[in-house]
Amino acid sequence: MTDPGQRIAELVEALTGASRAYYLLDQPTVDDRVYDEWMRELEALEAGHPDLVAPDSPTSRVGAAPAGRFPEVRHRETMLSLANARGAEELGDWYRRASNAIAAAGLGERPIRFVVEPKIDGLAISLTYEDGRFVRGATRGDGVVGEDVTQNILTIASLPRELRPVDHHPIPAVVEVRGEIYLPLGAFAELNAGRIAAGLPAFANPRNSAAGSLRQLDPAETAKRPLAIWCYALGYRGEFEPETQWETLEWLRANGFPVNPDIERVDSLEEAAAACLRWESRRADLNMDIDGAVVKLDDMRIQQAIGAVGRTPRWAVAYKFAPTTATTRLLDIRVNVGRTGALIPFAILEPVQVGGVTVRMSTLHNQDDVARKGLLIGDMVIVQRAGDVIPQVVGPLPQERTGAERPFVMPTDCPACQTPLVRPSDEVVWRCPNRSCPAQIVQSIIHFASRGAMDIEGLGEKTVVKLFEAGLIRSVADIYALTPEQLLALDGFKDLSVRNLLAAIGASRRSPWRRVIVGLGIRHVGGVTAEAVASVVPSLEELRSASAEDLAAAEGVGPVVAEAILEFLSSEDNQRLLTRLAERGLTMSEERAAPRAAGPLTGRSVVITGTLATMSREEAKRAVVDAGGRATDSVSAKTSFLVAGTGGGSKLAKAEKLGVRVIDEDEFRRMVVGG
Ligand code: IVH
Repeated sequence: MTDPGQRIAELVEALTGASRAYYLLDQPTVDDRVYDEWMRELEALEAGHPDLVAPDSPTSRVGAAPAGRFPEVRHRETMLSLANARGAEELGDWYRRASNAIAAAGLGERPIRFVVEPKIDGLAISLTYEDGRFVRGATRGDGVVGEDVTQNILTIASLPRELRPVDHHPIPAVVEVRGEIYLPLGAFAELNAGRIAAGLPAFANPRNSAAGSLRQLDPAETAKRPLAIWCYALGYRGEFEPETQWETLEWLRANGFPVNPDIERVDSLEEAAAACLRWESRRADLNMDIDGAVVKLDDMRIQQAIGAVGRTPRWAVAYKFAPTTATTRLLDIRVNVGRTGALIPFAILEPVQVGGVTVRMSTLHNQDDVARKGLLIGDMVIVQRAGDVIPQVVGPLPQERTGAERPFVMPTDCPACQTPLVRPSDEVVWRCPNRSCPAQIVQSIIHFASRGAMDIEGLGEKTVVKLFEAGLIRSVADIYALTPEQLLALDGFKDLSVRNLLAAIGASRRSPWRRVIVGLGIRHVGGVTAEAVASVVPSLEELRSASAEDLAAAEGVGPVVAEAILEFLSSEDNQRLLTRLAERGLTMSEERAAPRAAGPLTGRSVVITGTLATMSREEAKRAVVDAGGRATDSVSAKTSFLVAGTGGGSKLAKAEKLGVRVIDEDEFRRMVVGG
């Protein structure tokens, strides 16, 4: 006979693993019946051996349904799902089919309006109210039968418990409110960080984390995770008949249900497509994950008349965006030398599509980050990319391991100059202490030219490496001494590219003092800090003679930052560099910003795309600003016009789609130069 203590331990482990797979990863590993059998066996054993009950036994979780699962709920009205449309063309296909159905139903004369909503990547939920009181919350399940998660829903404070009559509509005797539960991104990141620190596998995406959180057996556990909800529809509603989707949303809002404030109602398919694009461009700024926009026909009479095909309504469609998380294999971990000499591990990934781009590499910040994330070389990993943010490796999928994975070992010597690495006791990073390490010099030049610093277009990593290897630049000051002849002698440089690069370098001389400060690459001094520093030391002379107290007067500058600045200034090499930059004509003091004069482009927002024949893109942008306008990088409905040079691809397409005016270079010159 098996030892009961040992059997209990086995069952606890099996049940915990299975429920973790089911609730947290949303990847069941055992059949429901097997799970129930284990649970009953464990309950019986524990009943006979109370001294052997583990404090964290799966049987002792509060609020657990008898079998450790939730009771079933039959929805009064089926929860539908949506057909997908990828791109404007498929959206057009959907609308054509809907129009045919509308005409066939004899409603072709009715005006068509569209409601465009975010498609929240969460968990569909149905909330039942009887006589105005919240009685039940249920997951979608298979659309017909879901799980009763009422106790967990009650942890969402923003949901009304009670309904009031609105606009003479009596409260429906029974009404199902439909919405999407999600975990805001901040909470998602926090939850994952906590899990990784606790040695638990990270959630692959916010949706899984919301599902895992909602289906905690212990509502107290759910309450610790700040679930949120947007409501967007009614299911069963008895005699209550709003005439439009818009009216439904207003009714929900009036009753205190959270309804997304950015939902729009528009009059044409073109506007609906433009609204979808707006959601896509806003995506990175939201605190929730959306995987698309939902376009719905507003008119309920039409909705009812054209109905559904199977489980997907004809009257709505999901306009899908590219996904922002994916799983792929971590092929290797290598190290880069940063501009301050820090050794930065980065991941080499099996190429994978995330958020519309192919990701092959991703930074891992430092050795501790690799350890904290529990990454092994060869792991399957979750990769995440949000909008413009650089892709991140979230964590491994340990359940996919084969045993062939191996840990990452930090090198002991600098991979660029072979100097032995050091790790200051108060730091998490290893550093190459060699100040003339070629990798550090190259990185500091790349940083100087980068967007956040001097923003020299055309002087990216590849070009910097090329110029460095050709011996043309040894420090950032050398950039300003480059000649056309030197550049033309290099592989891959042509007349036009040389002209553009030198024009961009020349234009950067006028970059404000605070950008020069950013470009110096002083530790801890990024854009925001540099702006504050520039305001207290508004010129090179003042910077040179600054004391710790002077610097500390700048907002956000504490002793650590002040110390880093003083350390930078204490180096003779750096002092010489500052002198050379001033000699080369850079802006070494803060100019009092003159109020912007009104010009021909005042109040206009302009985007430049493609290659212009007579000026660089930077010069064109400056011309816009000089003419009183705003130069922006992405086309939106608010763009006044797009200046198209040769080879403008996606921006041109987007402008055409949005009906934004497109002009050529000649016309642009006439506008900004006049005549
Ligand atoms: S409408 C027509 N509106 O997407 C009935 N669904 O793929 C479908 N979803 O199960 C619901 N945001 O979980 C609707 N604004 C929104 C939505 C939305 C997210 C989800 C919902 C549904 C799935 C369909």
